[in-house]
Amino acid sequence: SRGIPFTLSTVSCASLETLADAVPEARLWFQLYVLDDEAVRNDMLERAKNVGVDTLMVTTDTVVLGRREWDSRSYLNPRRLALSYLLDAALHPQWAYRALWPQGLPTLGNLMKYLPREQQSAGSAAGYINQRMTRRLTWEVLADIRQRWPGKLLVKGILNAEDALEARRIGADGVVVTNHGGRQLDGAPATLDALPEVVDAVGDSMHVLLDSGIRRGSDIAKAVALGAEGVLCGRATLYGLALGGEAGAAHAIDLLKDQLHNLMAQLGRPTLEQIDRRCLRRSPYASPRGDLPQRPSDTLPGGETPGDVP
Ligand SMILES: Cc1cc2nc3c(=O)[nH]c(=O)nc-3n(C[C@H](O)[C@H](O)[C@H](O)COP(=O)(O)O)c2cc1C
Repeated sequence: SRGIPFTLSTVSCASLETLADAVPEARLWFQLYVLDDEAVRNDMLERAKNVGVDTLMVTTDTVVLGRREWDSRSYLNPRRLALSYLLDAALHPQWAYRALWPQGLPTLGNLMKYLPREQQSAGSAAGYINQRMTRRLTWEVLADIRQRWPGKLLVKGILNAEDALEARRIGADGVVVTNHGGRQLDGAPATLDALPEVVDAVGDSMHVLLDSGIRRGSDIAKAVALGAEGVLCGRATLYGLALGGEAGAAHAIDLLKDQLHNLMAQLGRPTLEQIDRRCLRRSPYASPRGDLPQRPSDTLPGGETPGDVP
């Protein structure tokens, strides 16, 4: 209703068909995890096309699941939530009721038709899919998807100019500069650091979007200043959703919007087009880089250059 596209994941609880039925006016994008089974992959593309998805986003940074050690404390074993989480849910019966009623325990809606009957719970299905994620996600595979998909194609998982140029070569319409919200490769660069070289390489001919860590309007402004055409939000809106359902997600979006508008007013730049690299100054404590203007005042007291600071 706010005109913002919603990207449905391959491993979402609601299926493409359920969502398109429930919210026919939504601008629906679909995120594809490329599975080994070509027939399943092509069927999902067909289903996305049939329900009116206009943009396909192929994720390239998850051919294997990262080790996610921080997440292991949430589980007793890969399929069982830790007792503390179950207790937490039990202590919030109203929340648990809202989250679980009327569907009950979640399943992976898009994948139900491909899953063996005994592996249809969300936990089992996630394990099944992890094993079937293709380990050979080459540019040829992406070129094949490009051939089959008539709508817009975004390649998600780009963190350097070289890959952005490859994405353009296979005919993608855009790239998403992302480190998967820091959930995959530990030590992947911050997306704001990777963005300028991607924009410099393909920004004149492709859409360049960014995600990972967008929590405030000022984060959006920084991405736009460095050349992103827009940003994607994961957890900022998910936190709102988890707390307050649809109204909570809408509230999170409104907060981001208000913060961005406030910042633009303070900058004296009332349109997004006016937000450019000149709005930014690199902290004197960051190592110097060529992609932001360096000022004489970036020299620290005592004459050291920023790069001298540990
Ligand atoms: C709970 C959760 C589930 C996610 N599932 C997927 C997914 O199924 N496919 C995908 O491409 N990215 C997935 N991501 C990564 C997001 O698409 C996005 O890159 C990331 O959340 C952006 O960072 P942010 O959460 O800081 O905004 C997931 C992220 C979270 C937090």
